[in-house]
Amino acid sequence: MNPSSSLPDAKTSPEADSSVLQIWGGHPLQGHVNISGAKNSALVIMAGALLCSGDCRIRNVPLLADVERMAQVLLALGVRLTRQSDILDINASEITTSKAPYELVTQLRASFFAIGAILARLGVAQMPLPGGCAIGARPVDLHVRGLQAMGAEVQIEHGICNAYVPGSSNRLKGAKIYLDTPSVGATETLMMAATLADGETMIENAAREPEVVDLANFCNAMGAKIQGAGTSTITVVGVPKLHSVEYSIIPDRIETGTFLVAGAITRSELTLSPVCPDHLIPVIAKLRDIGVPIIEEGPDCLRVRKSATLRATDIETLPHPGFPTDMQAPFMALLTLAEGDSLINESVFENRLRHASELNRLGADIRVKGNTAFVRGVPMLSGAPVLGTDLRASAALVIAGLAAEGQTTIQGLNHLDRGYDRLDLKLQQLGARISRLGGVSADAQVTNSIHPSTSVTT
Ligand code: UD1
Repeated sequence: MNPSSSLPDAKTSPEADSSVLQIWGGHPLQGHVNISGAKNSALVIMAGALLCSGDCRIRNVPLLADVERMAQVLLALGVRLTRQSDILDINASEITTSKAPYELVTQLRASFFAIGAILARLGVAQMPLPGGCAIGARPVDLHVRGLQAMGAEVQIEHGICNAYVPGSSNRLKGAKIYLDTPSVGATETLMMAATLADGETMIENAAREPEVVDLANFCNAMGAKIQGAGTSTITVVGVPKLHSVEYSIIPDRIETGTFLVAGAITRSELTLSPVCPDHLIPVIAKLRDIGVPIIEEGPDCLRVRKSATLRATDIETLPHPGFPTDMQAPFMALLTLAEGDSLINESVFENRLRHASELNRLGADIRVKGNTAFVRGVPMLSGAPVLGTDLRASAALVIAGLAAEGQTTIQGLNHLDRGYDRLDLKLQQLGARISRLGGVSADAQVTNSIHPSTSVTT
């Protein structure tokens, strides 16, 4: 198949742009939500499969446009993929090119993280720069400096990051690397690069996100020697080769948080599983602060109960284990209906408050100054046409629409489908009055080339 032919373009596809979600709000939800595998784990673990010259079977892979795009990147590198339901089989025994295609990498920042794995396997990699995006500039300087510390020559020319390992061994060298900021992507890129390097690599001020731990567990299951993932210091002792693996990725903590907030704002009772409550400590703590009862029903099940009142609170986004930036927009939607004034400070990304003006279209009272949003609680929201400007902003609008009186119409579903596994269908099953009009369905948007397996094998 032509890897790029069947993929809707997130930025330009008329199909993706023409579909809208209609929500008739003000109705409580009820029931159980099946949480899908973590988007950010799935994407980086797919990149990690490039380290292995055998078969990788990855379970619990969510059905997402971003996963589809990452599959397209791997296909373009000559890797074989098949998908059946939530199982993705990847065989990177042959990587036929070290150059990832511009059109795909610019649509999916996470695909840049594959530079570490490609360089480790081939000793050479050419990656288009992912560029900025709706939430900020998103540089890759930490990825580049880390690879240079491991002995790679890296030059950025004409928008391409060209990296190679000088000398005949093709092998990166272990190094001590300090990250100026605990970047998730840089930690993952460098961890992957270090698995096949010669000697020991130490990454200081590493990101501690659960998805970093998931990637480390995946690599270790293939024979890598990574210690300390989940702490600020990760040590990797390089090995010459990794072996085949079968691995199941963790539940998506951001999808879990989004449904908890949807339950809270609609004053509903929902159960959610499978989940990892330990990955949601700041989210659960803030919900309880706001007055939302959250019950741990078992090791992998949470229940959100109807709250009497919603109280204002202050939020500052931080690297894990701080409050996740990916939950900031959904919480802003919730706080629009809380009693009192809330202050939200976005400290991870520089331009991630664009949903505030869309929430105001629904009757919210939010003022933005720099990276801070002042949210004055209002008694009710009322439906209106709104536009999702990025992935989590779109989720926030869905949440607000569920609580707003009347009809809310949300455009920009290409963002939502990037990172939520059939959100509208899952909400329908909980009794939400939500429907997708025009364009193509969530299923169709993400299944056209890696599901079912017949259409993906090359
Ligand atoms: C990942 C997640 C994203 C989440 C973010 C923060 C994936 C696919 N995406 O993105 O959902 O919102 O973590 O939790 O896993 N930075 C630099 N130089 C670099 C790299 C990053 O200055 O080389 C800065 C960024 O501009 C940003 C901050 O570091 O201000 C954090 O970004 P980072 O943790 O790298 O985010 P991503 O890995 O891109």
